[in-house]
Amino acid sequence: MKVKHELLRAFCVDAMVKFDMDKSDAETTADVMVTTDLMGINTHGSKQLYLLLKNMKEGGLSVKTKPEVVDEGPGFAVIDGNFAMPMVTATKAMNLAIKKAKETGIAYVGVKGSSHFGAAGFYANMAAKEGLIGLSMSNVDPCMAVPGGKTPHFGTNPIAYAIPTSNGKSVFLDIATSVSAVSKIFAAKILGKSIPDGWLIDSDGKPTNDPMKYPQDACILPMAGHKGYGIAVLIEVLSAIVTGASFTLDVPCWVRDFSKPANQGHAFIAIDIKKIIPIADFESRMNKMINQIHDAPKVDGIEKIYLPGEMEWEKYDRQLKEGIELPEDVVINLKKLAEELDMNMDEYLK
Ligand SMILES: NC(=O)c1ccc[n+]([C@@H]2O[C@H](COP(=O)([O-])OP(=O)(O)OC[C@H]3O[C@@H](n4cnc5c(N)ncnc54)[C@H](O)[C@@H]3O)[C@@H](O)[C@H]2O)c1
Repeated sequence: MKVKHELLRAFCVDAMVKFDMDKSDAETTADVMVTTDLMGINTHGSKQLYLLLKNMKEGGLSVKTKPEVVDEGPGFAVIDGNFAMPMVTATKAMNLAIKKAKETGIAYVGVKGSSHFGAAGFYANMAAKEGLIGLSMSNVDPCMAVPGGKTPHFGTNPIAYAIPTSNGKSVFLDIATSVSAVSKIFAAKILGKSIPDGWLIDSDGKPTNDPMKYPQDACILPMAGHKGYGIAVLIEVLSAIVTGASFTLDVPCWVRDFSKPANQGHAFIAIDIKKIIPIADFESRMNKMINQIHDAPKVDGIEKIYLPGEMEWEKYDRQLKEGIELPEDVVINLKKLAEELDMNMDEYLK
């Protein structure tokens, strides 16, 4: 299904307002989701609204609470999300990191009392939009084995960075530290597809391509073995150990028990480049690096070498003009939401 981004945003906002969310919080959440869809990261865009609102309905999240700053200094803060909509909490946290970094040069804002915040890249890009380098990350309920283990221990712990450039399009990497995001496994389940080699091991520690075994009888592997695992540990510390959020085996799964607050943690870091190097110098050095990468000799059959984030920006520009191509699993979730809220989806998603 192809949908105009303004209409998808209107559908998401109206659904949240029907749920009694503040209109401004609904708009913040919809902006995170629809921007993520525009970039083609459909596993983490509007698809997640159905499940987040199910958490609100059953008690895992609260429609009435607001995130609040519970500790702060010149270059840091901790926010308690109070189980409000995670996109609202995460946006507030990155805005605060940006504000503090503009004063101090660098700032960290940690979050506890949150849940699934969607694609990490959105928040890193908030900093890049303001001319700062941004980093964002989150811990997640356990579903990933540690090297040598055969049971879940860490979550897929996503991390993103975004670096501003002179053309307004950041260089950004946005990844899970597992070999893939679990949403891709759930999407394969819904679509009846098998999954690639090297993603899952079963409860005996043997490789499997069967997404139906996940999560009861299988767990996902870290990306690049010990390397992804090592970065997942850092994310767990910055997002949860430091902030007071739940960590590793104690993080409830927000899509399994909708009534239990997940108490996930996030971390946001902003670096004000111009406090370190004149912005013109930074931009010219970045452009030189970007040009060198684009001009690298290519292997046969490759037309273009991409910077991290470049594919997403190409999709963003195209879908902004032509409409967002929503995969079937996203449409299924939006339809379920429309049905439950007695909304006429055809009015929006034409
Ligand atoms: N909130 C959560 O609980 C959670 C958990 C896990 C993942 N996620 C999200 O899932 C999404 C997908 O994660 P993933 O690990 O499947 O990502 P992925 O493996 O699809 O990698 C995407 C990243 O790699 C870059 N990339 C891909 N191919 C490239 C190439 N040839 N050259 C240069 N760069 C290239 C992209 O620009 C992008 O930054 C992310 O948005 C992540 O934040 C969220």
